Amino acid sequence: MSQPTIESILQEKRLFHPPAEFSQNAHITSRDQYQQLYDKAQADPEAFWAELAAQELHWFDQWDKVLDWQPPFAKWFVGGKTNISYNCLDRHLTTWRKNKAALIWEGEPGDSRTLTYAQLHREVCQFANALKQLGVEKGDKVGIYMPMIPEAAIAMLACARIGAPHTVVFGGFSAEALKDRLVDAEAKVVVTADGGWRKEAIVPLKEQVDKAIANNAAPSVQNVLVVKRTGQEIEMQAGRDHWWHEMQADVSANCPAEPMDSEDMLFILYTSGTTGKPKGVVHTTGGYNLYTHMTLKWAFDLKDTDVYWCTADVGWITGHSYIVYGPLSNGATTVMYEGAPRASNPGCFWDVIEKYGVTIFYTAPTAIRAFMKMGDEHPNARDLSSLRLLGTVGEPINPRAWIWYQQIIGGDRCPIIDTWWQTETGGFMITPLPGAIPTKPGSATLPFPGIQADIVDAEGNPVEGNNGGYLVVRHPWPGMMRTVYGDPDRFRRTYWEHIPPKDGQYIYFAGDGAHRDEDGYFWVMGRVDDVINVSGHRLGTMEIESALVSHPAVAEAAVVGKPDELKGEEVVAFVTLEGNQQATEELNKTLKQHVVNEIGAIARPGEIRFTDALPKTRSGKIMRRLLRNLASGQEVAGDTSTLEDRSVLEKLRGGS
Ligand code: WTA
Repeated sequence: MSQPTIESILQEKRLFHPPAEFSQNAHITSRDQYQQLYDKAQADPEAFWAELAAQELHWFDQWDKVLDWQPPFAKWFVGGKTNISYNCLDRHLTTWRKNKAALIWEGEPGDSRTLTYAQLHREVCQFANALKQLGVEKGDKVGIYMPMIPEAAIAMLACARIGAPHTVVFGGFSAEALKDRLVDAEAKVVVTADGGWRKEAIVPLKEQVDKAIANNAAPSVQNVLVVKRTGQEIEMQAGRDHWWHEMQADVSANCPAEPMDSEDMLFILYTSGTTGKPKGVVHTTGGYNLYTHMTLKWAFDLKDTDVYWCTADVGWITGHSYIVYGPLSNGATTVMYEGAPRASNPGCFWDVIEKYGVTIFYTAPTAIRAFMKMGDEHPNARDLSSLRLLGTVGEPINPRAWIWYQQIIGGDRCPIIDTWWQTETGGFMITPLPGAIPTKPGSATLPFPGIQADIVDAEGNPVEGNNGGYLVVRHPWPGMMRTVYGDPDRFRRTYWEHIPPKDGQYIYFAGDGAHRDEDGYFWVMGRVDDVINVSGHRLGTMEIESALVSHPAVAEAAVVGKPDELKGEEVVAFVTLEGNQQATEELNKTLKQHVVNEIGAIARPGEIRFTDALPKTRSGKIMRRLLRNLASGQEVAGDTSTLEDRSVLEKLRGGS
């Protein structure tokens, strides 16, 4: 498990109750009401979800069976026909929401744009037709490698509309990482932009796509669609590359949503795991739509009058579920922001809140800590009185950051929901319902109705009392991932057999450690596997190690996380070099850059330590626990008797 910082261990014991007025007006108003919902869902999960599916979504055809559970493979609303693009757009057009702002976009540098539901619908239909014109058919995969601009959401919704699963690749990933994902997903088309703005500089996205697919490296890719965003000269390959605006000008705005089977694939999203290759998490249509819709509605207490802003990037699951699909399915106004916090613009988030009168704000602890450091004067100089509810996601939030968020941003009046969930879970799993559940800083509190979360030991036995263990889920839920794309065995092994099933009962293993207090509140402690969490981004240590050893100077590499005040964790790499190589400052820099080229800037090691040898067990396994202790400057704790060569440890301690 990653090392918690001293501060994250210190728990703030106070209970924070929602203001009475907030509770009275909330969708779920009391702990009793929550409990009733929870019990109802527990007693008959299928009836619970079926009732909501019928009430909240549009179906072209009713399902025959609510749940088909062949562990660990689940199908929800079997035989039902629906379309998430229809649920996000068309159904609002026959109501007063037709001219309501669907998407408010605040771009860099100072650009902005608002699309009503009717306008967004039109653009999505046009782009769906543009994709069709390029020969994209139902079942074909589309890669999306975009900055945070409305066209990213439009492209996703257009894919969903015609049944072409999308795979969004975060714009901060390198050409190499993009290539791996396009190849694995067998993408037929890539949607990108000439460039994106990142802290006053241009990220040359189209150039990266060119690199990724050069020399037929991603042979499935036939066409590239390019949004003109940053305007610099770029190369367009005739026949292969097309400008978005030229395609849009040419096509009809009439494109009925394709009735999709509830279990048709909606998207693949790659995420890091314990082995080298990122895995393609597969989500399907009906269950994901219902789950993101309900979790957003109840946990963020969403109302038609809200202006809702989630600061994530659409390249991550948070962007998929809670910038695009969840909010639009609910007919909400969702804000999309292209910028990022930086020293030269220390009030940027608070400006957006003031400018649009944001009422619900959702961000990550790492961003909160960055703003905290920039000083209270920035939020204090803005009018944040429109805010009524705050949320956080991505890593455990340390009590000091929670209290700052509550007081300085929330003005002591906004509940904070700490949402624990994962790419794999599709939506929130453990989160307060803000009108019903008093909060404790650092705890995600209680499971969402329908989620049977628990804490168990390595054999799957329930852990009693406030003892730590593995966080698991006992019953399938509609938003769960269906498989690892192209590798169902990996899905089974990673999530369902890590804790051995007993009597045919499969339980979902999340990869996190947690404990539960006397009120039944969950406290998530962090990953128990070889995944580290840097600024809320998931990185597999093996992925970074593979990147390092792909450099000719490197013989072996071991990567661990080290606690970091701002980022949560930082990447530290221990590296042994090939015989003829010198451990120079220059090489240190080169290797850091090599990781950036192979994966992306988010994976850049904070520190690379050269060493003669890595500590290994007699069976040759790298003893990461020792390295974690060393990286964080702690005494090496625990048993070292299995260490093969003790002198290695002495040398590492000596800092060689
Ligand atoms: C961590 C992001 C504590 C956790 C939605 C999980 C959290 C991983 C929280 C998933 C939270 C996310 N408290 N830890 N509120 N939210 N995590 O797939 O370790 O990018 O397993 O999904 O982030 O990261 P992912």
